[in-house]
Amino acid sequence: MTTLDRMLQGLPRKAQNTIYSSFDTLRMMGSVGNLKVAASMAPSAFRGLVLGTAREGDAVQMPGHHAAHYTLTYGDEFPEMYDLYRRAVANQWNGDRDLDWSIDVDPENPETAVMPLDYPPFEGLEAKGIRLNAKEKLRFANDVAAWTLSQFMHGEQGALYAAAQVTESVQWLDGKFYGATQVMDEGRHLEVFLRYLDTKLQKVYTINDNLFVILDDLLTDGRWDVKFLGMQIMVEGLALGAFGTMYNFTREPLLKQLLKYVIQDEARHVHYGVLALREHISKALSPAEVREREDWAYEVALLMRNRFLSHEIYYEWFEGRLSLKDWDEIILNARSMSAFRHLMFMRLIPNLEYIGLMSERIKAHYAKAGLTSFLGGKNATQLSAEDLLRDISDYKAPPAVH
Ligand SMILES: [Fe+2]
Ligand SMILES: [Fe+2]
Repeated sequence: MTTLDRMLQGLPRKAQNTIYSSFDTLRMMGSVGNLKVAASMAPSAFRGLVLGTAREGDAVQMPGHHAAHYTLTYGDEFPEMYDLYRRAVANQWNGDRDLDWSIDVDPENPETAVMPLDYPPFEGLEAKGIRLNAKEKLRFANDVAAWTLSQFMHGEQGALYAAAQVTESVQWLDGKFYGATQVMDEGRHLEVFLRYLDTKLQKVYTINDNLFVILDDLLTDGRWDVKFLGMQIMVEGLALGAFGTMYNFTREPLLKQLLKYVIQDEARHVHYGVLALREHISKALSPAEVREREDWAYEVALLMRNRFLSHEIYYEWFEGRLSLKDWDEIILNARSMSAFRHLMFMRLIPNLEYIGLMSERIKAHYAKAGLTSFLGGKNATQLSAEDLLRDISDYKAPPAVH
């Protein structure tokens, strides 16, 4: 039994949960070995995790500290970026016209389930003494789907602003052309997820605190390459893992088509990020600056692996019946989570390697966290959107335990 377990013993459940959450936040901040990284993340972590800023009010202001790089000579060229720009222009789609919004999403029909019943962690809940009846299971699965899609939508809003900021800040004109298409892409993603939630599931959850911390951190950081690393590599990697998992599981045809279009766009976004960062990291940063980005990326990778645990669902469904600590354990061991982790790190690790943020020093940390199995895999410049969709469809989640 850990010291924390001993402290929690015998306390009322509400007090247990509060202490457990606070310790968890402290542990997260304490685990960041690089002081510069800890200092840059601390204000966002304070706003998101301690003040709970994302849970209050209608909007939050995130002050930007970046500079717009205004070109006067129009001379910089980056042909691969220009090529991506042309492809992005050619592949624009129309969320209103190209998706069949007349499809009726029936939450009671298992044939077209948004989240099929073999994916929520019912076995884990049962092991902790919580049994849901058939009707509750259906409602629970739909809530988990609405929670997940709500986080996609919140992430897309962040992606929209990050894409706009990066478009201003990058020094390559071809990057600005490309960035303008990404702004349009992210706006459309936000539109279609919002429309799906609003008209098909009729339920929207607030932004997850940990997602808020990552977005707040990168939107307020003045360094364009940190924004870029955060959004184009880390959050896009997270998105590909999460979209891929949902795409793989769902039997609902409108959502499946919607996710297919979005994944195809995201493949381009990561490709752009990888091109720009490899160039910048290898040519413009000092060894100390590279080291700081390596540490930052590693911390964000761990945050993304360990902390998207649907606490909002816990509080809605099980507060008072189950401890938050037990819930975290159940979710971390769920099938959907192992699929998410697999699909996310399969994309993320080779991209970090390609852009030059996988030195032997940091590799040892990834190895300790069990995240090195994808080293040497294909990076975003070697993968088409079709490759991504095929890898997602080929992935088979481990069987559910009954
Ligand atoms: Fe997006
Ligand atoms: Fe994106």
